[in-house]
Amino acid sequence: MRCSIVALPVLAAATSVVAQAPKPGEDGKYTISSSGIRAQFIPYGATLTNLFVEDKNGEEVDVVLGYDDINYYPKDPGHPVYNSIPGRYVNRIGKGKYTLDGTTYTTELNDGSNTLHSGTNNWSYRVWNVTDHTEDSITFSVRDASNSSQGMLGLVEGQVTYSVSDSTWNIKMEATSPDEKTPLMLTHHTYFNLDAFKNPDTQKIWNHTLYLPYSKRYLVADDGALPTGKIGTAEPGGIDDFFSEPDLFLGHARSDPKFAGNCGGGGACEGYNGYFLIDDAPKDAVVVKLSSGFSGITADLRTDQLGVVVYSCNWMDGTADLKSTQGTKANRKVVRSSCVAIEAQDYVDGINHPEWGRVEKQITGPGQKYSWESSWTFGTL
Ligand SMILES: *[C@@H]1O[C@H](CO)[C@@H](O)[C@H](O)[C@H]1NC(C)=O
Ligand SMILES: *[C@@H]1O[C@H](CO)[C@@H](O)[C@H](O)[C@H]1NC(C)=O
Ligand SMILES: *[C@@H]1O[C@H](CO)[C@@H](O)[C@H](O)[C@H]1NC(C)=O
Ligand SMILES: *[C@@H]1O[C@H](CO)[C@@H](O)[C@H](O)[C@H]1NC(C)=O
Repeated sequence: MRCSIVALPVLAAATSVVAQAPKPGEDGKYTISSSGIRAQFIPYGATLTNLFVEDKNGEEVDVVLGYDDINYYPKDPGHPVYNSIPGRYVNRIGKGKYTLDGTTYTTELNDGSNTLHSGTNNWSYRVWNVTDHTEDSITFSVRDASNSSQGMLGLVEGQVTYSVSDSTWNIKMEATSPDEKTPLMLTHHTYFNLDAFKNPDTQKIWNHTLYLPYSKRYLVADDGALPTGKIGTAEPGGIDDFFSEPDLFLGHARSDPKFAGNCGGGGACEGYNGYFLIDDAPKDAVVVKLSSGFSGITADLRTDQLGVVVYSCNWMDGTADLKSTQGTKANRKVVRSSCVAIEAQDYVDGINHPEWGRVEKQITGPGQKYSWESSWTFGTL
């Protein structure tokens, strides 16, 4: 991938940079930049706070959600996992149970009858260590003690390197579990609004277009967004179709009566909160294309993962403040369905579905290395 090419010089540069401790700006954010792109991060959750790219007029636009005040992230009662890394096992563990080598382990139920993002001691709530920082890259690391997320044993050491180059944001994660076999599955939980909430005609995300050219299939989920085991195939023009045409709006199926309850919540969740499989994509192919006519910005995802979660922000309730770089005078809040999270990851709850053949891949043990790699390339229509 493009990312591995950039990672090498970054590692080589590390020795010279470590001597002087990497420093954040006055606002507490670490900045990296390259042509056409500027990104800011904080150690809390290894979170991306701001991502500036150019719109169709060449103006800088901050296309991800976040807060101006970095001290608000740990306090935010909603904690939507804004652009951070949940771990050590992302998304749901069905009924808070999994079996490994004949032993059944119980994990914390923090999302109805399931475990979400490893429970209440998840990585997105921890202050990671900054281990390297150059002009165009930053590395964070996390040391996750055995059983710190209940029911997942063995020390895990994880790290993420973010780098930028030519309008591209690269993300590379690695983790090892030197002592025990453990569930290990990561993602970057990135929330986008490519208009920076500045479209005066709509605060909703429905006029963004989404193209998933290799994603005819999706995991069928129950009312709590937990996969049932069944794999569905989208109908062209149907509610789960984002593959048949390159310019389908995220809200193309809004007139379908099922849309209002399409992501569960007892019929209360409108839009999407599900997993789309990426099938037979050539290496380095663009597997997700998100764009918006208003700003003219396009965002292309390349990933080594087998699918993406698409969540259209139904549970944003209008209480969270927008950053000063976003919104209009009249619009200062993150309202319902005004953003989209796109999270590249392995099959949701794959440790509980041997029929998918992902159990082995979602368990990492001594002598093995978990890795995850993606990049977002920005352009204009
Ligand atoms: C993550 O951990 C924090 C701190 O323990 C907790 O308050 C939060 O609910 C957890 N997040 C989820 C999704 O469970
Ligand atoms: C950061 O590094 C210190 C010193 O090595 C270590 O004690 C701490 O656990 C690390 N923090 C995390 C989140 O890994
Ligand atoms: C893991 O933690 C949970 C609760 O925090 C505890 O009940 C359980 O016994 C622990 N398991 C091990 C193997 O230490
Ligand atoms: C959304 O797109 C449709 C179709 O192009 C267009 O008719 C409509 O005006 C757009 N709405 C907003 C609020 O941008």
